Amino acid sequence: MKIILETERLLLRELTPDDFDAMFAIFGDAETMLYYPQAYSREMLEAAIQRQFDSYAENGYGLWAMILKRENKFIGDCGLLHQEVDGVLELEVGYHVNRQYWGQGFAPEAAKACFDYGLNTLGRKRMISMIRPENLPSRRVAEKNGLRIEKEVFWRGFQHYVYAIERA
Ligand SMILES: CC(C)(COP(=O)(O)OP(=O)(O)OC[C@H]1O[C@@H](n2cnc3c(N)ncnc32)[C@H](O)[C@@H]1OP(=O)(O)O)[C@@H](O)C(=O)NCCC(=O)NCCS
Repeated sequence: MKIILETERLLLRELTPDDFDAMFAIFGDAETMLYYPQAYSREMLEAAIQRQFDSYAENGYGLWAMILKRENKFIGDCGLLHQEVDGVLELEVGYHVNRQYWGQGFAPEAAKACFDYGLNTLGRKRMISMIRPENLPSRRVAEKNGLRIEKEVFWRGFQHYVYAIERA
């Protein structure tokens, strides 16, 4: 298993096919996916995981598994995604946490490591998170990491804030 990043409480490593059930507990859950068009079917999730494998091969990054070190447990995913917004290719940090582990600061901790990786290791000038205005928990994650709302766009069928951060 390829470990990419480590934080105080978490490891971020590449996903493997064995992560399917733990991922489905998140992406197949309607409450977790409230701000997405729908919870994922098994087929949708299989395709989404395959896209991450393809992205690891093409880009060296993608969404990674979020492992809680003290329990050696898969609790979510976080990582880097290419997104086209208003005709511009952007690098996004995305995150999803199993509901059992919400509210303990795991998403901001993982996301911070991903922003640092993109800005400092990959040398990106800017990075974003695309967040629907109603998704207050996700907006808190972005704000805790110093992202600012840059603009509001209609994207993938819904209004989204483009939260952005630039290299210091
Ligand atoms: C967004 C998400 C990853 C946050 O993960 P987390 O590890 O629980 O993050 P945090 O522990 O920082 O908690 C989220 C923050 O939102 C706040 N929050 C939670 N529900 C809230 C609500 N209904 N209204 C306002 N704030 C809320 C929490 O209080 C916390 O802020 P605080 O630390 O200042 O109190 C998690 O909620 C999730 O997996 N959501 C579903 C997937 C998703 O929407 N991903 C983002 C797509 S853009």
